[in-house]
Amino acid sequence: HFAQVARVPGDPILSLMEAYRLDTNPARLDLGVGVYKDAQGLTPIPRAVKLAEQRLHDSELTKTYVGGHGDAAFGERLSQLVLGANSPLLTEQRADATQTPGGTGALRLAGDFIRHCLPGRGIWLSDPTWPIHETLFAEAGLKVGHYPYVGADNRLDVEAMIAALTHLPKGDVVLLHACCHNPTGFDLAPRDWKRVLEVVKARELLPLIDFAYQGFGDGLEEDAWAVRLFADELPELLITSSCSKNFGLYRERTGALIVCASDAEKLIDVRSQLASIARNLWSTPPAHGAAVVAQILGDEALKGLWLDELEGMRLRVASLRRGLVEALAPHGLSERFAHVAEQRGMFSYTGLSPLQVLRLREEFSVYMVGSGRANVAGLDASRLDQLAEAIARVCL
Ligand code: LMR
Repeated sequence: HFAQVARVPGDPILSLMEAYRLDTNPARLDLGVGVYKDAQGLTPIPRAVKLAEQRLHDSELTKTYVGGHGDAAFGERLSQLVLGANSPLLTEQRADATQTPGGTGALRLAGDFIRHCLPGRGIWLSDPTWPIHETLFAEAGLKVGHYPYVGADNRLDVEAMIAALTHLPKGDVVLLHACCHNPTGFDLAPRDWKRVLEVVKARELLPLIDFAYQGFGDGLEEDAWAVRLFADELPELLITSSCSKNFGLYRERTGALIVCASDAEKLIDVRSQLASIARNLWSTPPAHGAAVVAQILGDEALKGLWLDELEGMRLRVASLRRGLVEALAPHGLSERFAHVAEQRGMFSYTGLSPLQVLRLREEFSVYMVGSGRANVAGLDASRLDQLAEAIARVCL
């Protein structure tokens, strides 16, 4: 049986974690996978999460299954976080969340929903996008296409994006990154979002908005601006939300697919399909992470603590971005890398070539994705000069 099974290369992002772990150079620097690190190089568990876990430990009475849509309190509170506490969609019961194993699970559920329930619709991804978007939707059996986003000059090209969207087949699905675009860090400005919305309306496209970094861009509410604009203006919308980064719950696999429908009855139809699809994927979702998030969002004190911690992470990443550009100045490179300070979220498309990325890794033990994506959230202020020096050496 297995004789015919060939070996495939490891995941280009996750395999960097292993390569970094095996590197014995004390000066090694991990800018690979998108996880936040503190000044000690650790990915901390937020205090709000620890406190919520302690409460759950004392109060939890059962480990029986949660339902197909997961923890209802989690779904309700996360939907409020994404759509706004007073969103009419929630009061009119036109939107609700289905809990999923992480944002990736939400994307897969969306992919399978599109294939089962909207047959023939293609999905359009930004070029470039998170590599798993490419493979995940193809595995789900969807026809995957691309619209331009960041060009070879490493600049956001809104005109090319809009022009391409204008020619998409009517009714197709377009995947948009709500904020903190992965892998580039280049986000649309509000005026760009409004233009995209007009094209979405004109072409009757169904947006699938990937919202994995709420709170890491300009702020928790600010980052939701485009999602809420689309939710207000369109009858139907799919949103994938992740609690991996903003709650630091990476390994607990906590996320949701939020559906906005034209009316409450239609929402029930769509959700019946999601529960049925999820049953065949993972049956029911893991409980712990969602219970933690529900605790935090349902308690003013815990929520306040979490908001402070999240804001601390966001501000730290933003200051590392500026710090890196400053550290590059003595090498005459601050202009060339000025975009690092303008980009948002964890990631920066640095503009470094695959060869330069390879040299950084082999000569300086600096690990980043081959595309030139650096996880700025993996840096520390005390290491900026070292990184700038290494970058300067490979840019000579
Ligand atoms: C990343 O892009 O590094 C993160 O989203 C983590 C992942 O699962 O790839």
